Amino acid sequence: MTDILRRKAALRERVSGWKRAGEVVGVVPTMGALHAGHLSLVEAAKAACDRVIVTIFVNPRQFNNASDLENYPRTEEQDAEKLAPFGVDVIYVPDPDQIYPEGFATTVSVAGLTEGLCGAHRPGHFDGVTTVVSKLFLQTGADRAYFGEKDYQQLQVVTRMATDLDIPVEVIGCPTVREADGLALSSRNLLLPPEARAAAPALNRAMRGMADKLMAGAEIATLRPLAKAEIVAAGFDEVEYLELRAAEGLAPLPKAERPARLLAAAWIGGVRLIDNIPVG
Ligand code: PAF
Repeated sequence: MTDILRRKAALRERVSGWKRAGEVVGVVPTMGALHAGHLSLVEAAKAACDRVIVTIFVNPRQFNNASDLENYPRTEEQDAEKLAPFGVDVIYVPDPDQIYPEGFATTVSVAGLTEGLCGAHRPGHFDGVTTVVSKLFLQTGADRAYFGEKDYQQLQVVTRMATDLDIPVEVIGCPTVREADGLALSSRNLLLPPEARAAAPALNRAMRGMADKLMAGAEIATLRPLAKAEIVAAGFDEVEYLELRAAEGLAPLPKAERPARLLAAAWIGGVRLIDNIPVG
């Protein structure tokens, strides 16, 4: 079994040995409840780095809802078992005081990119993400960090943050992994009641239909009401947002006039799902 480290001093000692030997270190930051999407990031890291660290930390500061934090799946033992075949070098599961020591008073905040989409519906979420991710970058000293495109806004925000703060890490986005029926893999899928799980692929299905029409020149404002109605008719309770944004910088777009991304968040069976697909 892979070594599990819980203290940043032990992690630093391990990493400094690797760095002295000139090795390239990759990190895959996670909140655990690992699925094939996370494992694809581990695979990408293993293929490009000499050493790979997987971090597991359910970060309370990025939850804007107490019951969401409480219900978030915590499966450390199974996570370690899933990672075993990949030969990662360290699983870093920091004790809470290693991330938020007593008196912790700093927030890392990215403006602009965080203001719409999930940022508009989950106040404080991205501040929590950028605060913890900056700490994980600094504690691991990683040269490369791997994130899923499934959290597309997060990927953009973390890339901006690392650039702005001169953190010497290359942020690498990896494609979303999906179930055969199109549902994007997410730790939250574990929380879906069976009926909701069966209906959940309707979100991606509707988005793919929209993408085809956007590619043919349709306007998002025309397509949105019909697509929302289709998603709700399939069993979703609410579509939080369904937006067309520039693939780089996330500016709102009326039409797919340059490389774009269609992004959505919707609620089903008490679970909030997000998805995004490229358009053009
Ligand atoms: O994507 C996630 O799982 C989390 O937001 C991250 C990047 C591990 C930060 O807590």
